Amino acid sequence: MPVEEKVWTVIDIIRWGTGYLAEKGFDEARLTVELLLGETLGVKRFDLYVKHDQPLKKSELDQFKVLLKRRLSHEPVQYILGKTNFYSIELKVDKRALIPRPETEILAEAVIEHCRTFLSQKDVVRVLDVGTGSGCLAIAVAKFVKNSSVVAIDKSAAAIELAKENARGTGTEEKITFVQSDFLKLENNVFETGFDVIISNPPYIPESELASLAQDIRDFEPVDALSDGRDGMTFFRKISEAAPMLLRDGGWVFVETAYGQAKDVARIFSENGGTELLVKKDLSNIERVVRSRFFSSRHD
Ligand SMILES: C[S@@+](CC[C@H](N)C(=O)[O-])C[C@H]1O[C@@H](n2cnc3c(N)ncnc32)[C@H](O)[C@@H]1O
Repeated sequence: MPVEEKVWTVIDIIRWGTGYLAEKGFDEARLTVELLLGETLGVKRFDLYVKHDQPLKKSELDQFKVLLKRRLSHEPVQYILGKTNFYSIELKVDKRALIPRPETEILAEAVIEHCRTFLSQKDVVRVLDVGTGSGCLAIAVAKFVKNSSVVAIDKSAAAIELAKENARGTGTEEKITFVQSDFLKLENNVFETGFDVIISNPPYIPESELASLAQDIRDFEPVDALSDGRDGMTFFRKISEAAPMLLRDGGWVFVETAYGQAKDVARIFSENGGTELLVKKDLSNIERVVRSRFFSSRHD
């Protein structure tokens, strides 16, 4: 930002900042500037336009510059703001966990719809969320499935801490039990069984693809939340192997998959006894969610 003593109004900052970020190659430059300026001034994005000719105080300009610098270092906007929206729920987010993604709302919707349609007659629908991160999926299910009771596990103590804060912040803490546990060492850490549904958005990026991720993701989000350190399929194998033990007979698994993974995941599920397989696409027409049913003994 030029240093001369100039009066900067809200609209000046929006115009200048948008051009500057765009020139540096950042997507969604205008949205980013509006969000950072809204945060600086403590107002909603759309209210900025009501105040378009309001001059900024020096302290406000300084604060805006600090936030803009963070974005210029590629820190995701959600971490800078410390919050995001998931399934119309406002959640706290920071470096302790992955930022919930819009495509994960497809998984949330599939599970919520399934529980409401097929499991509404049960006194309690017991759901296990594997790799809860910020708690987004567990919280969405707890909020929108009236008769749900959720166990949410994560290997990361920091993520569990954040997820608990989010559960308290959304009034869902009574319906969710958080457990710090390594799902890949399940045999040593069995917590509960008899679940109706397992839901998971696991770390599915193959290690070989980590280096090609955008800097925003690579440098800021926890690597254990992104990749299994192998071929990206570790959790899908483990979930489907453990499903007959963790689920009640005929219980369901819903997982999110990366672009191009759904068919392999469906095959792995089927090889481990999964039936009634269904693949759901996201809004970009990418196969995003795999659903399967598991029986403790094969019924075929
Ligand atoms: C892709 S993130 C998903 C977070 C959240 N459910 C979401 O959808 O935004 C995967 C999560 O799995 C957790 N995780 C990684 N390895 C794990 C393991 N061995 N056992 C349990 N959780 C694990 C990570 O800490 C991370 O929070």
